[in-house]
Amino acid sequence: MTTESTLQPLTIALTKGRILDETLPLLAQCGLEPLDDPRSSRRLIFEANRPDVRFVVLRGSDVVTYVRQGAADAGIVGKDMLLEHGAQGLYEPLDLGIARCSLQTAGFSASQNLGSRLRVATKFVNIARAHYAAKGIQADVIPLYGAMELAPLMNLADEIVDIVDTGNTLRANGLVPLEHIADVSTRFVVNKAAMRTRHALLTDIISALKDAID
Ligand code: PRP
Repeated sequence: MTTESTLQPLTIALTKGRILDETLPLLAQCGLEPLDDPRSSRRLIFEANRPDVRFVVLRGSDVVTYVRQGAADAGIVGKDMLLEHGAQGLYEPLDLGIARCSLQTAGFSASQNLGSRLRVATKFVNIARAHYAAKGIQADVIPLYGAMELAPLMNLADEIVDIVDTGNTLRANGLVPLEHIADVSTRFVVNKAAMRTRHALLTDIISALKDAID
């Protein structure tokens, strides 16, 4: 019979960027550390300081995909990505409370749109569609992959839907937050099948993370 100790290492998918900067100290508090520094290494798979765990480092949207498909057993990812890409196939047992920010609509303080359909640029296409539909506003959603703040300045869009943290990027580009859509923080997520097959190790890690954030 296969026991947990004979399985391949538990794979935890980490989100690169500012979430990673806050994740690594939290993992270290739990005694979990990648052997190489994922902020500087070009590797994509990182062994940990214990043989039963390893990490992969991905964009947030790909963390959701890897964990949903079971290619990673667990992940650390922003709530914005779970709202955008759906949390089917995942358990979300823990709010890590790190990388807190919010999802907002933003634009110029006075509307530049005179009568025509609202044009909204965003990488949060599903969240934007749902938000404007709930308000009964007909919006044309324009998908972008980054630098959303540029879109109103170049008259590509009237508004954007984006993450706001300090608000510096909006201010630096002459935009203002308009409507709050959701608070965002970083979540520990687990593939539902992995929660059964790797139960002991996952509950240990969840409990250590919980102690670290408490
Ligand atoms: C995010 C977001 C905003 C900015 C907000 O981008 O898309 O541009 O941070 O932060 P602020 O309110 O503190 O200025 P990020 O730098 O993460 O890069 P991205 O466009 O690749 O997501």
